[in-house]
Amino acid sequence: MGCQYFEPCEDGADTFTIAIPKMTFGRNCLHEAGIRASALGMTRVALFTDPFLKDGAYVASVSAALAQAGLDVDIFGEINIEADDLSVERGAAFIADGDFDGMVSVGGGSVMDTAKAAMVYGLYPTAEFLDYFAPPLGAGKAIPGKLLPHLACPTTSGTGSETTSLSVLRISDLNTKFVLGNPLLLPQEALIDPVCCDSLPARVVASTGFDLLCHALECYTAKAYTRWAKIEDPLKRPLIQGANPWSDLAASKALEIVGEYLDRGVNNADDHEARDQLMFGATLAGMAFGNSGTHLGHALSYGVTHLMRDVTTDGYPVASPFVPHGISVIVSAPAIFRYTAVAAPERHFEAAGYLQSDLQGATKHDSGEIIAKRIIELMKKTGVPNGLEGVGFGAEDVAALAVSTVRQVRAIANSPRETNLVDIENIYAAAMSY
Ligand SMILES: [Fe+2]
Repeated sequence: MGCQYFEPCEDGADTFTIAIPKMTFGRNCLHEAGIRASALGMTRVALFTDPFLKDGAYVASVSAALAQAGLDVDIFGEINIEADDLSVERGAAFIADGDFDGMVSVGGGSVMDTAKAAMVYGLYPTAEFLDYFAPPLGAGKAIPGKLLPHLACPTTSGTGSETTSLSVLRISDLNTKFVLGNPLLLPQEALIDPVCCDSLPARVVASTGFDLLCHALECYTAKAYTRWAKIEDPLKRPLIQGANPWSDLAASKALEIVGEYLDRGVNNADDHEARDQLMFGATLAGMAFGNSGTHLGHALSYGVTHLMRDVTTDGYPVASPFVPHGISVIVSAPAIFRYTAVAAPERHFEAAGYLQSDLQGATKHDSGEIIAKRIIELMKKTGVPNGLEGVGFGAEDVAALAVSTVRQVRAIANSPRETNLVDIENIYAAAMSY
């Protein structure tokens, strides 16, 4: 079934590249941080975390493990809840002044993404922040050399940043998010310890779980890599290269995990099996999207975080306006997959099956509706905002949301269905409430 999706296309790519770090998964594996950091050659470590975790148990156990292995540690905790250029600039100054030979990050996507970018700007300062970003936004400058070895320790079950060569950053001047992607950003190792999810509030498990769901679903339904242009220079093959047989493996398993465990993991903090599985699923989905790219779910989420106002989500101790990343993605998702399914009905049908949708009597022609229904069902079971109206938007915002989103050129081009500004307006209009 999968093979047909990757049929050769004239002038299309016939090769894909996969990059992932060495990974360790298991309860209490954070205790391995010292031995593993030492084996990576670290002697003086920059430990990046956020203000909420800084004085908590996970940072304490990682610090203790590093000290026990004889490593010198300095902690940097001034990271905003959404990774942004301001956090990166502070982190870069910390790196530039610290004479470090290793990076250990302990936190969610914001912490890991800030750690990656702070090494870039701390080691290789540049006059313009956007220089290292891809055109048309940035200058597409090459990062001049290697970064520090990086041991990433995720503390939520969503982002998958521990497995990717990407850093998603809010650019404060533009008030929106863009992706810095470069193979040099890939962490060398990850320690994925599901104990970190035991005490997460339900709302955080829901948001990060929907992020994981969309990573996996967007990867699985992304444009096939064979439909992207062939790249002559192998070192210039993009990370956002489209769905491929390898990303399919990780994405399909991640979808099964979300389908089975999201409701349980959100609604019962004592359900360790569910939360452990979601942590594993997040890493799988990260391995998938880091090597295929997401598409409209993430592209449209950036319009939401760009233009949000007077809104916060329960479970996040931050000032308005704030919509957690996973919520910003999921609010448009049912409308998006109704729209994309017509271009790849079999793929969407398979994905609906992995998500444990009710397929009785259905055919691939119903796949958009089936997948939308299943996502809405999961949204209702986990109590997340019901569509764009649930995070403060109305019909009058559609045009501005769409204009903001069309800047996400590569992600939109990774959609299985060719998508223009009017299409994006129509999707937002259909995503107000379900
Ligand atoms: Fe995401």
